[in-house]
Order: sequence, then C-alpha cells, then structure tokens
Amino acid sequence: MTKITAAITAVGGYVPDYVLTNQILETLVDTNDEWITTRTGIKERRILKDSDKGTSFLAIKAAEDLIQKRNLDPREIDLVIMATATPDMPVAATGVYVASQIGAVNAFSFDLVAACSSFLYGMSTAARYIESGKYKKVLLIGADKMSSIVDYTDRTTCIIFGDGAGAVLFEPNMENIGLMDEYLRSDGVGRNHLKIDAGGSLMPPTAETVANKMHYVYQDGKTVFKFAVSNMADVCAKVMEQNNLQGEDVNWLVPHQANKRIIDAAANRMGLPDEKVMMNIHKYGNTTSATLPLCLVDYEKQLKKGDNLVFAAFGGGFTWGAIYLKWAYNS
Ligand code: UT7
Repeated sequence: MTKITAAITAVGGYVPDYVLTNQILETLVDTNDEWITTRTGIKERRILKDSDKGTSFLAIKAAEDLIQKRNLDPREIDLVIMATATPDMPVAATGVYVASQIGAVNAFSFDLVAACSSFLYGMSTAARYIESGKYKKVLLIGADKMSSIVDYTDRTTCIIFGDGAGAVLFEPNMENIGLMDEYLRSDGVGRNHLKIDAGGSLMPPTAETVANKMHYVYQDGKTVFKFAVSNMADVCAKVMEQNNLQGEDVNWLVPHQANKRIIDAAANRMGLPDEKVMMNIHKYGNTTSATLPLCLVDYEKQLKKGDNLVFAAFGGGFTWGAIYLKWAYNS
C-alpha cells in the first residue's frame, strides 16, 4: 500500500499595518538602532494597535488569505490547529472561535501551546492526523499578539517581539512529498528562563501581581540565547544526519526568527549559504508562533516542488526541534 504523507498545499499570512521601528523604540526605552540591529537583526515589527482585538483577529486574517488564494471551501476543512502562546482567553480555545469565524463548520479545533515551538510541534501534530488517513484537510495556524504580553518599558524584551499570523494547509500526498522526518525535544529546565509568572494556576492574578508587572513576558536573554544557539543547530544537524542530507541537498532552512545570530549559527552548522536561509526578522521581529509560516508566505514564489526544507525552532519551556519536509508545489 502506498504510504500517505502530509504535504503543505497552501499558505497564507497577515501582519497588522502599524510599524514599530527601532527609531520609535529609541523614544520609549534606553536603546538604539545600532544595538538592536547588531544584536538581533531586527529593524521593525508590526503591532496590532486595536485594544479590542486579540490573537484570533490575526489568525482569521491569515486563514482567510489562505482560503482566498487557494479558492478553498472552508466547509471541507476537517481540523483547525491553532498554535499560539497568546490565546484570546485562558480557557475557551482560540482555534474553536477562529474555525467558526472562517466558516470551517465541519472542523473540530484545539489550541497547541508550546511557546516559540508551537507551530513546529503543530506541523508534527497536523502530519499525524493526515497520515492516519482519516483527515484530508488540516489547517494549521500560527498566530500571536505578542504586544499583549510585552512590557514596553523593558528594553530587554520590547525590542524583540512583534505581532503576526500565518497559516498552512496540510493534505494527503501519495508521491512521498511532504513531512518526511522530525526530531523534537523539550526540557523543563527552561521554565524559569522564559516565562510569564502570573495569571496561571500557580499564581492566579491579584492586584499585587498586576502592580509587580508579573503578567508580562520575562526572558533571561543570555541563558536562552546559549541554549538556543547550540540546540537549534544540533537538531538541524540531527535531522540531516537521520536523512543522509548534506548541505548541498537542503534547498532551504526555515528557521524560527528569534535572533539573526541564532539563525546564522544553525545555517553555519548545516553548511548553508545565506541565500538558502529564509529570513524576515528585520521586518517582523519575533512573532513567536507565526515566524515559520510567515517565512513560507514571503518565500513561497521561490519554492519548487521537491525542494528539501528544514524547519527549526527553539522556544520557552524549553521546547525545540527540527522538521524535514519536501515542498509539494510550484506557485
Ligand atoms: O524566541 C524564543 C527564544 N528566545 C530567544 O531565542 C532569544 C535569545 N536571546 C537573545 O536573542 C539575546 O540574548 C537578546 C537579544 C535578548 C539580548 O542580546 P545579548 O547579546 O544576549 O545581550 P545581553 O543580554 O548580554 O546584554 C548585553 C548588554 C547589557 O549591558 P551590560 O551589562 O553589558 O552593560 C544589557 O544591559 O546590552 C544591554 N542591553 C541593551 N542595550 C541597548 C540589553 N538590552 C538592550 C537594549 N538596548 N535593548
């Protein structure tokens, strides 16, 4: 029997209009364009200014972009996986609302929360549903309104993050194209280095937690950087080794956009020149769950059927991993 693989057959994306530049950040905190550019590679990021709109707004826009580009009937979607670190609400799953809003009335949906690795883990999850043979169309959305958890008086975090969303459609493939292999990892040692202290069951919100700014994201940047730079490169090397891939066999690295220096280290380890590395950190910053699909949106026209892509991410938890995927279409 021919094996079913899970192929990406369409992509869509959305970023809000408002552009938060390094120059604007210079007026908010003690920082400068030169420091931000050389330490991170970021020049600007997009921010969803409307205070009455949450992550679902971004996700719906990205999904609608995909649906429209692909001319897809949303009633055919079987499952919507919503990868996010900033759900609209702590309990009612954001994906469920998004699925209803886009007309995916025959789908079931859930949120997948794994910090910056949410989308990567979501790819693995989506693939398992497709490979089972039972589900034919799985929509994976990565969206985050990071501005909702960022303290714009903290220069160590406010320069990094941005808002955005991307979506991909997974469908069955019988030509051995799609998700080929993966190497996913996690380690709870990271819990204290990248987190939001309050608002969960461990520390429910109080007037004190709000006053102490404990609902904002905290990052021990140096420590996270050390783990990220070695671990992201390690998993890329591992997934290449598992599949007998040399640098010249890989057409694209699709890396989480957290810091240009982390991406460069992974590309170096894989033996890839800059031209094979998807990069949009300069214009969007770190959009957490949206970085990988937004890369696909930006580079879609350059991708060819059969191209070998290596996706990689590292995030809070710690969570990290790499996925090897063969691209399914020419656009
Ligand atoms: O996506 C999830 C995973 N996250 C990551 O992968 C992020 C990993 N970490 C990083 O990307 C980097 O650690 C940062 C970009 C967050 C920080 O860069 P760094 O090179 O690690 O800087 P640092 O924290 O070691 O700080 C170096 C200096 C410090 O000053 P002193 O102590 O040397 O005098 C900081 O106070 O830079 C200072 N600094 C800044 N200066 C200007 C920290 N933030 C800023 C700033 N502007 N925004």
